[in-house]
Order: sequence, then C-alpha cells, then structure tokens
Amino acid sequence: MSTEITWLGHSCFAVHTGDHRLVIDPFLDDSPTAPVKAAHIAAEYILLTHAHFDHLADATAIAGRTGATVVANFEIGEWLKTQGVDETKILAMNTGGSSHLPFGRVKMTSAQHSSSLPDGTYGGVAGGFDLSLPEGRAYFAGDTALNLDMKLIGLGGLKLAVLPIGDLFTMGPDDSIDAIKFLNPERVVPCHYGTWPPIEQDVQAWADGVRAQTAAEPIVLEPGEKFLL
Ligand code: NI
Ligand code: MN
Repeated sequence: MSTEITWLGHSCFAVHTGDHRLVIDPFLDDSPTAPVKAAHIAAEYILLTHAHFDHLADATAIAGRTGATVVANFEIGEWLKTQGVDETKILAMNTGGSSHLPFGRVKMTSAQHSSSLPDGTYGGVAGGFDLSLPEGRAYFAGDTALNLDMKLIGLGGLKLAVLPIGDLFTMGPDDSIDAIKFLNPERVVPCHYGTWPPIEQDVQAWADGVRAQTAAEPIVLEPGEKFLL
C-alpha cells in the first residue's frame, strides 16, 4: 500500500492510494496550468472543497464519465443532482462531519471563504478535507484564510498539509507560514498560486521561509509532478 499525490495545477490533486483513485477540486479543461484534460482523469471519488468554478468546473463531466462518487457539502450535492449527477453517486457532508470510505476516513473541515456555484446558486459553506490515509493524515485546506481552527485540525498530527499561498482570494505566503505553525504538519505543499497573474508568487522564497520558520518540509511541485506521502 502506498499513496501517490499528483498536483494537477491550481487546487486540483490526484490521490492514488492503495487501489483507489481520488481527484480533489477538478479544474482542468479551463485551467491555464493543468497538465491533463478532464477526459483523461481516472477517479473513483471526486472531492469538492467548495462551489467555485476553479474547484468544481470538471466535476460533473468526470462523474458522468467515470461513475465516481462525488463528496461535497450538502448544497453542492443538491446542485449536482440538478446537473444530472446520479444521486446514488453523491456523498453529501457538512463541516465537521466524516465518513469512512474504502480508502480511509474523509472529514470535512472548516475554511474561511465563500462558496457560490457558477450559476449563482448558494453553494453552502467552503470547507477543506482531512483524509486519514494508510501513511497518516493529509489535510487539503481548500480556499481559506488563515484561521485558528487550524490549531484544532493539527491535533493528533498531520503527515501533510496542502495550503493555498496565492493571496488575494485566499491566504498568502506570510499567513501560510502562520498556518503551518498552527497545523504543524511533517510536510507542506503549496497550491492556488501561479494560475493567473493576480495570484503569482515567488514559491522558492516561500519554501525558504517555511524551512527557516517552521518544522515542516516544503514540497514544491510543478503541475503534473507527484510525490509519495
Ligand atoms: Ni474559492
Ligand atoms: Mn479558488
């Protein structure tokens, strides 16, 4: 059993754990940095942190083609039904809830962010995911500001934290350093930067800051690059 995590640009990650394939926040066909198109994604589960287009744009198409189960908050789940997603393939959750799935436990964490759907429908509250995988816990923060809940999320130990660092729509590099201090993960992967000019960041300077100011090991990926958890 091993877990391999691939950055697909922006906030999209493919997780291959044991025999299971997950995709988190699929935004591929319209992403300037995605290394693959949605048509090439294999998935058994699709996890959506919130309703913004840059996190769920390709969810309906991937779900329809693969028959994957979509894990999302209740409001997004209801909206997916109106988009033709099979209701037996929707696992609706809400903040603080968890579910044991064949690859491990999925817990929906809080986030400080908004969450409207592309057509303006209310998308519930934004969240993140705390995945209990064979190697340990991996926290995908989704879009969020720095917040004190991160101290709670870090309790019990995190193998990995995946954090936005792009600023403007989410926390930026400086706040992410404080987030890492709250979360205290063994390793940290940055995302939600570099997709468009307004969220460009000097990721090597960020990584230097992580090494200098926290106990975590930064893992900087290019879109399409993978690592073992
Ligand atoms: Ni967002
Ligand atoms: Mn976003």
